[in-house]
Amino acid sequence: MKSIVIAIDGHSSTGKSTVAKKLAKALEYKYVDTGAMYRAVTLFALRNQWIKAGEVKVNSLINQLPSIKINFEYNGSDGTNDVFLNGENVETEIRAMQVSEHVSSVAKIDEVRQKLVQIQKQLGEEKGIVMDGRDIGSVVFPKAELKIFMTASADIRAQRRYNELKEKGEDINFEEVLKNVQHRDNIDSNRKNSPLIQADDAIKIDNSHMSQEEQFEKILNLAIERIKST
Ligand code: DC
Repeated sequence: MKSIVIAIDGHSSTGKSTVAKKLAKALEYKYVDTGAMYRAVTLFALRNQWIKAGEVKVNSLINQLPSIKINFEYNGSDGTNDVFLNGENVETEIRAMQVSEHVSSVAKIDEVRQKLVQIQKQLGEEKGIVMDGRDIGSVVFPKAELKIFMTASADIRAQRRYNELKEKGEDINFEEVLKNVQHRDNIDSNRKNSPLIQADDAIKIDNSHMSQEEQFEKILNLAIERIKST
């Protein structure tokens, strides 16, 4: 069977990563979570005190970009990849609310995007990959054989994210999470460079009222069809 590139884009907290991971496992493909890469750069900026009162010290971050190394390593315990920042596994730390609050501001910096897009293109050179993000079908792999665009209502996405954070023991209220989801939608969709848009040839899936299983089955079938016809 031929290997293809599967691009999964969409709004934050639509469950892209969950379905992308499952799909990669079922197809024995590589999985890359590009949001984790933007989060790792944000963590780097936070640790260097370059984000204060919501403002990013853009020049300091750009100057230090060459010293940021981001890679993925196989995690034997759950069979997926963890993201590493300069050799340190930061998979857990990048999911904290503090990183979520600022990641959109970092992700809109042109130089950050150029660096990460270049790494993402290299990771997909051999195909056989499922990559999720915001601009995978539009910018990173405009020729991806299968493009999915996932969305759901902001309220439903915030509720899912709230449940996840609560389970991890974060002290958080629903309104705060909803605001963060809306804020990220706004920045992601309106930024100048590679805004979140549905590629013309992407298949839209609104999962507001779909179970994870239904959604997975639908995407898996689309992938199998596409692999057979490629
Ligand atoms: O998928 P996520 O929520 O972990 O993504 C974190 C942020 O990174 C999100 O606000 C948008 C940004 N992002 C992006 O701009 N481009 C990507 N390909 C992936 C994520």
